Amino acid sequence: MSKRLYIQDVATRDGFQIEASFVPTEDKIALIDRLSHTGLAKIEVTSFTSPKAIPNLRDAEEVMRGIARVPGVEYTVLVPNVKGCERALSCEVDEINLVMSASDTHGLANLRMTPEQSLAQFAEIIEVTRGSGVFINASLSTTFGCPFEGEVPEARIYELLQRLLEIGVQGVTLCDTTGMADPAQVERLCREALQRWPKAVFTAHFHNTRGMGLANALAALNAGIDRFDASLGGLGGCPYAPGASGNICTEDLVHMFQRMGLDTGVNLDALLDTAASLPGLIGHDVPGAILKAGKADRRYAKPKWMQDAERENIRH
Ligand code: COA
Ligand code: ZN
Repeated sequence: MSKRLYIQDVATRDGFQIEASFVPTEDKIALIDRLSHTGLAKIEVTSFTSPKAIPNLRDAEEVMRGIARVPGVEYTVLVPNVKGCERALSCEVDEINLVMSASDTHGLANLRMTPEQSLAQFAEIIEVTRGSGVFINASLSTTFGCPFEGEVPEARIYELLQRLLEIGVQGVTLCDTTGMADPAQVERLCREALQRWPKAVFTAHFHNTRGMGLANALAALNAGIDRFDASLGGLGGCPYAPGASGNICTEDLVHMFQRMGLDTGVNLDALLDTAASLPGLIGHDVPGAILKAGKADRRYAKPKWMQDAERENIRH
C-alpha cells in the first residue's frame, strides 16, 4: 500500500465553536471517546480561547481532562495567546495548535491581533513550552484568501511561514478559512512550502464553503501533503469570518482516499456510525455526503419488474 495519510478531526473544535447551541460537556467527551477508537491520527479536542469570544468551548479544561486518551492518538487544542497556552499546559495536551491570521483584518476581527502581534505572543509561548515535550503547531488562517481583504499575496504567506518556523514552530497548518482556495492555487502553494521547508510538518485545512473542499484536498495530496484536517459530518466554521461554513467532511475525505486505494488508518464504518450520532447531538442535519448516500459500494435491489421477469425466466 502507498504511504500513510494522517487524518485529523476538528469537529469538536472548529465544528462546535460555530453551533447555535452549547453541546453539553459530557456529550463532547463521549463523542471524542468514540472518535478515539476510529483510527484517527489526531483529534483537535477544543480551544483555550476567551469564553466571551467562543462561549461554546468554555468547558475546555473539563473536556480535555474528561476524555479517555488512547495511545497512538494525538490530542491537540487551539490556542491564541499566552493565557490559552497556560491553560492548555495545565491539561497536559500532546500538542498546542497556535492560531493566527495571515491577514490583518481577519486577525483583528477574530483575535484582536495583527499577524505581528500574534507572532510576538507565539515567541513568548515557545519560551514557556521549551523542554515540555509539547509539539508546537501553528494554524495560519486565511492562507488562501481573506473574506475582508481578498487575496493574501503568496509572498506574504512564505514570509509568515519563515518567521513561524524561525521562532520554533514545528508544524504549520495552511488554512482556507472560508473556502476561497482553488485546486491550482492549493497545489502551487503546498508544493512551494514543502520544497522550501522539507523538514516542517505541514497540514492542509479546507472548508467546503464553495464546494471545492475535496478537490482542494486532492490538490494538496498531489503536492505531497499527507496530513489533513477535516470535521466529522462536515461541521465547522469561524464565527468571526463572515460567510464561513463547514470543514471538509472527515468521513467523505476518508471514503475518497480509501476508494483511491490510499491508507488512512481509519475505520470508515466506525467513523460513519459516530457521524450518525451528530444530528441528535446538535439538533440539525449535517452536510456530509456519505452518511446520506452510503459508501460507493452500496448496492440496491433491482426494480421489481426486473426481479419478476427474472423469476419468470427461471420458472420457464
Ligand atoms: N482563555 C480564557 N480567557 C482569556 C484568554 C484565554 N486564552 N485570553 C484572554 N482571556 C480573557 C482575559 O482574561 C480577559 O478577561 P476579563 O474580561 O474577565 O478580564 C478577557 O478575556 C479579555 O482579555 P484580552 O487579552 O484583552 O483579550 P481580547 O479581548 O483582546 O481577545 C482573544 C483576544 C484572542 C482572547 C479573543 O479574541 C479570542 O479568544 N479569540 C478566539 C477566536 C476564535 O477562537 N475563533 C475561531 C477559531 S479560528
Ligand atoms: Zn477551520
